[in-house]
Parts: sequence; structure tokens; C-alpha cells
Amino acid sequence: MTSNKRKFSLLLSAIVLAVAISASGFSNELSAQTTPLNSFKPGEIWPDDNGVHINAHGGGFLYHDGKYYWFGEHKGERSNAAFVGVTCYSSVDLYNWKYEGVALAVSDDPESPIVRGCVIERPKVIYNEKTGKFVMYFHLELRGQGYTAAHSGRAVSDNVTGPYTFLGAGRVNAGVWPANLPEAGRTATITPADVRSGTPAWRAAIANGLYIRRDFEGGQMARDQTVFVDDDGKAYHIYASEENYTLHIAELTDDYLNYTGKYIFVAPGGHNEAPAIFKKDGTYFMITSGCTGWEPNAARLLTAPDIWGPWTLHPNPCVGEGADLTFHSQGTFILPVQGKKDAFIFMADRWRPRNPIDGRYVWLPIFFENGLPVLKWFDEWDLSIFDKTDTL
Ligand code: GAL
Repeated sequence: MTSNKRKFSLLLSAIVLAVAISASGFSNELSAQTTPLNSFKPGEIWPDDNGVHINAHGGGFLYHDGKYYWFGEHKGERSNAAFVGVTCYSSVDLYNWKYEGVALAVSDDPESPIVRGCVIERPKVIYNEKTGKFVMYFHLELRGQGYTAAHSGRAVSDNVTGPYTFLGAGRVNAGVWPANLPEAGRTATITPADVRSGTPAWRAAIANGLYIRRDFEGGQMARDQTVFVDDDGKAYHIYASEENYTLHIAELTDDYLNYTGKYIFVAPGGHNEAPAIFKKDGTYFMITSGCTGWEPNAARLLTAPDIWGPWTLHPNPCVGEGADLTFHSQGTFILPVQGKKDAFIFMADRWRPRNPIDGRYVWLPIFFENGLPVLKWFDEWDLSIFDKTDTL
């Protein structure tokens, strides 16, 4: 072989190898960029426009001006703490997501509550029609303090993708009683030390304000959370409070930047986390999880004719294999699909606490049976599922 021929054959082999590698999916980036996605594959790697697995865990979603925005926790390989902040992605079709960057960045200032290394979870963004501002709520735990702070954080921006300015964080509704706590619950003197947890007496004491009284002055705890804007523009913050034993629903001020002081406690002692809510035909539906940390458990369903209750508990909305573990995931949001009637997507996280960046997303369509939501597993599905009536 002449040296020119040898060079040519080497070049040819290199090209063949490169094509083979990209076709095999080895080079994620290449294959992802050239192949638009047209379905959801719950639990699988989900490449963004750069071919990188979407890094937006515990996500919140907003539809604004023809685009969906996905906000979530940026996670690294070893720690669940926030070393980057809240990321943002955008999409027009819900399958293909463009990375928009860091919407809320952690701070380098050691005095800041959102200093690098704190815990930022379950960010949710809502748009205020009156002020034209985007408001972000998130669960904040202070650096080095585990999960003891139980703070709610707020940030605001003029642009949907950010940057968001941190406004502050803290416990919620200090010095205010929930609207549904009777007078007796405000004046009782029993404390958590007086009752054995898990007993009927303890449950009754929680329903009578056991933890609300304890935290009355400093403000109520706020961990797993979501924010909901109702048809009339009023917004509500829903969060796991009282040591995660009880959910609170708190009304926000007209600019969404603060609390009006009106709030209720829901399912006292019910141990509900991961609240996700939607409204259909005047009924409020909330899907929550139990409390087992990063491990999945069975989802719960609550409904109410009014945001202020009464809230009724129903059986697990999941059916089929994996239903008792919410298909190995924990809810984070329920998204109404634009342009389709009664089309809602249940969005959940499959946490990987030992390699958090590898956490997966489980999105499933919500069906209705006898007026109640039903969730079943699909290996793969697309939005046309909402046009079919015989899917269950
Ligand atoms: C889960 C919660 C997550 C995270 C985790 C920490 O129950 O839903 O958002 O806080 O606990 O263990």
C-alpha cells in the first residue's frame, strides 16, 4: 500500500468508527441533537438539547407565552445539597427541553441563607398578572443544619428564566392561628413531650393544634411544597408543616410575595409530603406521598370542593404493578396540558440519593374513573393518549 492509500484507508476507518459510535448512542450528545423526542419514557435518561440528562429535580412547571418552563433542583454526583441552585429548561412540546441556565444561583456569601451547600428543594414558579413578575417559592434548609430549619424561601424575577433575586426565607405565618383551629386548640397547654407519638391521643392532640401552638411565635415549619394559582388569580402555598405530620394551605398576597395570614391545616397527623395539586370542574385534587425520605411509598389522594376544604382522603390513585410505591417515585407537580381538555400529567421523581444527578423523572397521564384520578404505568407514551377514551 502506498502511504497515500494507507492515509485514505485510515481516514475511512475513522469515519466508519465515528458513525458507528454515534449510531450506537455512545455519543449521547450527537444522537440527542439529531433526534427530536416525540414520547415520554418514564424512568429513563432524559436528554436536554445538549444531550445531557435534565438536571431539574423536584420540579415545578409554568406555562407562559406559548412555552412550558421547568424549574428544578440542580443535583451533583455525591450530595443532595445545593451547589449550583435552581435550573430552568424550556419546551414547546413537553418532550424536547432546552437548557436555559441557572434561574436562582446559590450565594458565595457565607451570611446568605442560600449560601452554596444549603438545601434547596422543590422550587415552584408562578406568574403574577398584576405585577408582571415571576415569583419562585422553594423549601430551604440552612447549610450544615440538616433538615431542622424547615424554611420557605422566595425569589423574584422580571424574566421567566431568571436570574431570580432572593427575597428571603423563614418559617411561615408567625403569630397567626389557622382559620380552622377551634378556640380550644389555641388555648390548650398539652405539649409534644406529653404524648407518645403514633398513639390515638397524639393524633387527637395534633388535630387540636399540638405543633401549631409550639411553633406559633416563631412561625410554622415549611418543607415539601408547591404553589397553586386558582382561576380567580389568587395563589396558595401548600407545604408539609408540623414536623411533616400535617399539610398547611396558606393564601398569598395579591403580589404573591407574602402571606395574607389566612391559612388552614389539612389531614392533621396524616404524614403527607410532596403535595401536587390541580383543579378540574370546580374540584381540587391533591396527590401526596407518605413520609419515607428518598424511598418511595404509596401515593395518597385528597379532594375538596373548595381550597379551604373540607379535604377528603381517598385510596391510592395508582393501580397495577408498582402502585404501592407510586411506580418507584414521589410526586412533585401536576401539569395541565395546554390545548387539551382535562389532560393532566402527574410528574414525579425517582430519587437516587447515592448519585443524585442520576435521579429520574416519572411522568404519567392522569385518567379519571368515577370522577377520581387514576394513575397507571406506561413504559412509553405520548400526548395523543389524552385523545383516546379506552386507554384504561
Ligand atoms: C423526601 C422529600 C424530598 C427530600 C427528602 C429528604 O421525603 O420529599 O423532597 O426532602 O425527603 O430525605
